[in-house]
Amino acid sequence: MAAPRPLPRRFAVKSFGCQMNVYDGERMGELLAAQGMTPADEGEAADLIVLNTCHIRERAAEKVFSDIGRIVKSSAEAGAPRPMIAVAGCVAQAEGAEIVSRAKSVDVVVGPQAYHRLPALVAEAAAGGTGIDTDMPATSKFGALPARRRAGPSALLTVQEGCDKFCTYCVVPYTRGAEVSRPWGQILDEARALVDNGAREITLLGQNVNAWEGEDERGRVQGLDGLICALDRLPGLKRIRYTTSHPNDMRDGLIAAHAEVPSLMPFLHLPVQSGSDRILRAMNRSHDATGYLRLIERVRAARPDIAISGDFIVGFPGETEADFAATLDLVREVRHAQAFSFKYSPRPGTPAATLADQVPPAIMDERLQRLQALLNAQQHAFNEATRGRRTDVLIERAGKRPGQMLGKSPWLQSVHLMTDAAIGALVEVEIVSAGPNSVAAAELVPA
Ligand code: 5AD
Ligand code: SF4
Repeated sequence: MAAPRPLPRRFAVKSFGCQMNVYDGERMGELLAAQGMTPADEGEAADLIVLNTCHIRERAAEKVFSDIGRIVKSSAEAGAPRPMIAVAGCVAQAEGAEIVSRAKSVDVVVGPQAYHRLPALVAEAAAGGTGIDTDMPATSKFGALPARRRAGPSALLTVQEGCDKFCTYCVVPYTRGAEVSRPWGQILDEARALVDNGAREITLLGQNVNAWEGEDERGRVQGLDGLICALDRLPGLKRIRYTTSHPNDMRDGLIAAHAEVPSLMPFLHLPVQSGSDRILRAMNRSHDATGYLRLIERVRAARPDIAISGDFIVGFPGETEADFAATLDLVREVRHAQAFSFKYSPRPGTPAATLADQVPPAIMDERLQRLQALLNAQQHAFNEATRGRRTDVLIERAGKRPGQMLGKSPWLQSVHLMTDAAIGALVEVEIVSAGPNSVAAAELVPA
């Protein structure tokens, strides 16, 4: 047992990785605030630091250890007491025991399904113990979280968690657990609270968000499209997005919603990972390249201007030049508005990590460069194609120049414009010029 110390008063939460982690980080902050702690301002020392970690790719645990080292060193240099350190998120789930035995300065370890217990674990640590909880309880943490009290114009809302797909490269089914959908009423309550606190756009989050399923208030089984229709009726909510989706859960109703629901934004993040059927099979993706392309055609038939985004992995074990060429072919056919691409990273405990035929790093580097050059060119072309369009922009923050504001178009492009409109406003604009990563718009003055 360490010596007892006072409960922390100022906290900082640092989230890494996906938007779901960002959401979890916000919720952990709200839990701590509900206990009377306050968030440390920029540059102000916190006496509780929560590292909300990501385990999806390369050297996640090493990064956590080096962050911990940095925190300990800088408090020693400042002659201040070491802050309490909590490791949360997927690294905590996957490597909690190792973290505790290796890093003596870690006081709390909490997994993604147990973070509603963070305040109790912090109290245990203050009393001199080590607070560890990496359980995956049967009852979900969500019921134990406080109501939402703060929201930016674009808010995140987790509706589904976990994954049953077991792609052979992926740690998510092990760190986040099985697929669980949050209940209908709980989601609508949270959405209402977000809108009451200033949200104009909500992005529904889930590892397989389009697998969301639940019963509405009349006991009818609904899919994500039903949930989106209900949210569309919320006064004050102007835009709805959802991410991340799996091709096999992309049902007809959801595709139709893209044609029918006005507030559902024309954007679809639909990872395919590879264009080679052989690699898709080895990845256990349970769809092929042609099936994916037909799906994109159906989505485009419903909503012709939809922006398509995806995730790609290059250098999966056994990937040949011909397999990689098939990925480039698929990318050419899809014409992405944006995309994320990664070098394959063997994740401990996943089936692919022990496959023979790991691709040499130099080949992975070279393939990633070629793929990214193509994807970047597609993003630029997409931006160019929106030039001259009249649309709206949700203002999210001030730009660098006086009078300049930054926001997002319906197609999730970053937009900059000169306007007097405030953060949270929806401004009518014309897109006037296009760069590789953003577009410029001119505000349309009402006649
Ligand atoms: N190596 C590289 N990329 C990965 N991803 C998931 N696991 C790995 C891995 N082991 C990528 C996938 C997924 C995205 C969130 O991260 O492309 O869609
Ligand atoms: Fe990971 Fe595949 Fe599940 Fe996505 S669908 S979270 S890549 S296992």
